[in-house]
Amino acid sequence: MDKFLVRGGAELNGQINISGSKNSSLPILAATLLTDEPCIIGRVPDVSDTNYMIQILQNLGAHVERSSGTVRIEAKEIHHEAPYDLVRRMRASICVMGPLTARLKRAEVSLPGGCVIGDRPVDLHLRGLRELGAEISVEGGNILINAEAGLHGKEINMLGSHGSTVLGTDNLIMAAVLAEGATIIEGAAAEPEVKDLCDFLIKMGAKIEGAGTRRIVIEGVKKLHGAEHTVIPDRIEAGTYLVAGAVAGGTVTINRACAEHLTAVIDALCECGHGIDVNGEKITVTRNPDCNGCEITTATYPGFPTDMQAQMCALFTVTPGISVVTENIFPERFMHIAEMTRMGGKYQKENATVTVTGTPGGLTGAPVMASDLRASAALVLAALCARGETEINRVYHIDRGYEHIDEKLQQLGADIQRVRA
Ligand code: UD1
Repeated sequence: MDKFLVRGGAELNGQINISGSKNSSLPILAATLLTDEPCIIGRVPDVSDTNYMIQILQNLGAHVERSSGTVRIEAKEIHHEAPYDLVRRMRASICVMGPLTARLKRAEVSLPGGCVIGDRPVDLHLRGLRELGAEISVEGGNILINAEAGLHGKEINMLGSHGSTVLGTDNLIMAAVLAEGATIIEGAAAEPEVKDLCDFLIKMGAKIEGAGTRRIVIEGVKKLHGAEHTVIPDRIEAGTYLVAGAVAGGTVTINRACAEHLTAVIDALCECGHGIDVNGEKITVTRNPDCNGCEITTATYPGFPTDMQAQMCALFTVTPGISVVTENIFPERFMHIAEMTRMGGKYQKENATVTVTGTPGGLTGAPVMASDLRASAALVLAALCARGETEINRVYHIDRGYEHIDEKLQQLGADIQRVRA
């Protein structure tokens, strides 16, 4: 099991390139199951989650070739049973459910188990598919879907108690593109990754309007064809490096990013007093040592992303004054707080709100444990400005979603080493 050794204190300066979006790549790779023709997807990041998805596609019968960031998939003959051993490693595997149901009229996917960031039900995914006419049961830990009577378009509200669902919207869209008639999704997720999936589906011949808004209208077609697509830049990776610059810069420039997708993060960093300059696909952050804290509340897009909450907690930990963080999407997503407390961070938690008392220069290195993808990124950020050495264990969590994070940080001047166990 690899670990990171980080010696804090080095000032970060320079430029790095942002990778393609992991969260776009996963449903887009799954969507290639909708056609028997070849699809070519560019800028797929080399992270373990995309590797799992490729293995799932191969296991379902697809032929996959990968070279650098480009993946060619030909799903000529596929079967309907997603392999448990692979599915259980990644929750996002659930998004093969929609395409398998649409193309094969049946699917068997294991029910995702517990998740460290809190309870993550799939009731809305199942509601959407049921509304289209699929019969669904859960047996032996598997979701069994039968749509042999055909899928029929309908008006469906996908809002849950925590708002819209990203992968639930994706699943419903991917089922509806081959359904008979029109499907209207109210309360759809408006995240850029959903829009990116729809852009790919449209290239495959799907008829979709309203992607990127709360109301998506899909007119089912008989067949989809192969297509080529390049995934959008990873807004969470981009945001994480902007926070790295705010925590330990210097001046850090990220290339190949999309500022429009990062408005909430950029606004928060500006409110803290850090300098942000946007120039096309380049975003530069200049750390302001006289910065202040602020208040963030996670929300669905275009609100502040839950996937950036942990990284902001790391920033607030070393920012003078009081900051307040409220987590509205996954109220239990605060595993990073316990680990950063071991490094000297000061927090008070009440339900889904954490009040951070910032202590610039107050962190010291310690052995810490990565618990989930974004919490692990927060520990790396905290380590960059801690005194002494931080040992971050279980970095396989980081490798799920950050392409070569150690190399990119080294490029900026960080003292971070991957130690292979
Ligand atoms: C996606 C992202 C993840 C991000 C999350 C929220 C991918 C691969 N993952 O996950 O990084 O943190 O969006 O932006 O894109 N919910 C239900 N019932 C359901 C489904 C969801 O109640 O059937 C709830 C969840 O528990 C959560 C909220 O809805 O409280 C949002 O979750 P959702 O958008 O579905 O997250 P994912 O799509 O799984």
